[in-house]
Amino acid sequence: MIDVAFTPAGIVPARVAVVIDVLRASSSIAQALAGGYRRVLCSASLAEAARLRGPGRVLAGERGCVAPPGFDLGNSPSAFRSPRGDELVLTTTNGTPALLEAATKADEVLIGCLLNLRALVAHIDGPDVLLVCAGTHGRPALEDVYLAGRIAGALDGDRTDAARVAEAVAVSYREPREALAASADAEALRLVGLASDVEWCARESVLDVVPRLSTLEHEAAIVEEVHSPGGPLRSRVSDMGLADAPAVS
Ligand code: MLT
Repeated sequence: MIDVAFTPAGIVPARVAVVIDVLRASSSIAQALAGGYRRVLCSASLAEAARLRGPGRVLAGERGCVAPPGFDLGNSPSAFRSPRGDELVLTTTNGTPALLEAATKADEVLIGCLLNLRALVAHIDGPDVLLVCAGTHGRPALEDVYLAGRIAGALDGDRTDAARVAEAVAVSYREPREALAASADAEALRLVGLASDVEWCARESVLDVVPRLSTLEHEAAIVEEVHSPGGPLRSRVSDMGLADAPAVS
C-alpha cells in the first residue's frame, strides 16, 4: 500500500518510509551527500549535535530557520555543495526528529526531496511505502504534502485515502515552485532573507542521489548514499536514462 503520514504523529510500521522535509532538511541531506559529504549525522537536539562535533565534521542546522549560535553553517542546501569536511552533523526543528521517529517504525528509511525525486522513485522497489511528511511543529506543511503527492503519483499500486489527498494537492499546482512559494515555511524563510533557499529546493530531479538511513548511533541517525551492487546509484540511474536533468553548479 502507498500511504502518507501528513505529520510524524501519523507514522505507522512500514517496510519502507520516505522522510520528506522539502524546506529544507531533506533537501540539505540530499545536497550534502551529492556534494561530497560521506555521511550526514542527523540529531534531534542541539546538545547531541554539539556532542557529535569533532575533527572532520561540520556542524550545521537551524532553529527558527537560522544557524544556532556557534554552528559552522545553517540549513541552506546551497552551502553543502562542496564539503568542508568528511561528515556533516545536522540538527533541524522538524526534519531530523522526523527521521529519527521514522527509524523506530520502518525497516528501511529513505530521504526524499524535489532535488532527488526521479532517483528516489527509480529506487523505490515495490508498492509498500509510507511517505512521511516532517511538517512544521506538528502540523502538515504544504510543500511536504505536495512532494508526497508527486511521489505517490509516480508509483504503481494500491493507495490509501491519505495518498489520494496528497496526490490531489500535487496536481493542483502547475510546477513545484508554485507549491513551495505558497507555503508558510517559504514565507518564514523569506522573512529571514532566505528566499533563495526556496528557489533552490524547488528544482526537480537535479540530483541522482538517494540518501538512506544506514544505522543509529547513540541519539543520531546516520545517513549515507544508497549504492547499488554494481556501483554508485548515480551510474545505475544514468544507465536507466533517468539522470538527464541538468547538473547542479
Ligand atoms: C526543519 O527541519 O524544520 C526545517 O529544515 C526548517 C528549516 O530548514 O528552516
